[in-house]
Amino acid sequence: MTIRPMQAADIAPIVAWMLQIPLWQRYGFTAERGARLFNRAFAQGDLLRVADLADVPACGFCRVVLNGAFARSPYLQLIGVHPDHAGLGIGAALLTAAEEAVRPNHRELFLLASDFNTGAQRFYQRQGYQHIGTIPGYVLPDVDEYLFWKRLSTPAES
Ligand SMILES: CC(C)(COP(=O)(O)OP(=O)(O)OC[C@H]1O[C@@H](n2cnc3c(N)ncnc32)[C@H](O)[C@@H]1OP(=O)(O)O)[C@@H](O)C(=O)NCCC(=O)NCCS
Repeated sequence: MTIRPMQAADIAPIVAWMLQIPLWQRYGFTAERGARLFNRAFAQGDLLRVADLADVPACGFCRVVLNGAFARSPYLQLIGVHPDHAGLGIGAALLTAAEEAVRPNHRELFLLASDFNTGAQRFYQRQGYQHIGTIPGYVLPDVDEYLFWKRLSTPAES
């Protein structure tokens, strides 16, 4: 598996499989919204990483908005793996790569997980993230967003 920076050519194939993911269907994700989202992410210099398997390009990705949490800390806004390749460690490799990329300049990483997305919550907890708060009905009126946080280094180390 290789983790590399996302290219503009990755947008269309990634958006195509994102449309199949029930989580994002519930949030009203469409091809148009996906293209807009990634174009904005490139324009504002977000951290965008893609995972390739030897025979499957662009089967996972993540997006980190560098000052997206409190105009201070990086915020992992999206992470996803093609449904046919989930559970193989691709998500863990992407998350580790994102942490390594921000660690030189930031001490922590924040993210949100939907209350019903117990698989992702388990995934984040296993990666060392703590559930530190809940934002009721923040994005969808009937879904609470769980705020997760991981300290990447202590103040003394940075
Ligand atoms: C969550 C996700 C990024 C994890 O990537 P992955 O490559 O499957 O993860 P890994 O192989 O490194 O780790 C496996 C763990 O991921 C989680 N996971 C696996 N499939 C999942 C799915 N379809 N939905 C949510 N979490 C899932 C589980 O915690 C799993 O551990 P388990 O086998 O003990 O249950 C990926 O499954 C995914 O894209 N899910 C759908 C979108 C999503 O929920 N994104 C996160 C919120 S933005």
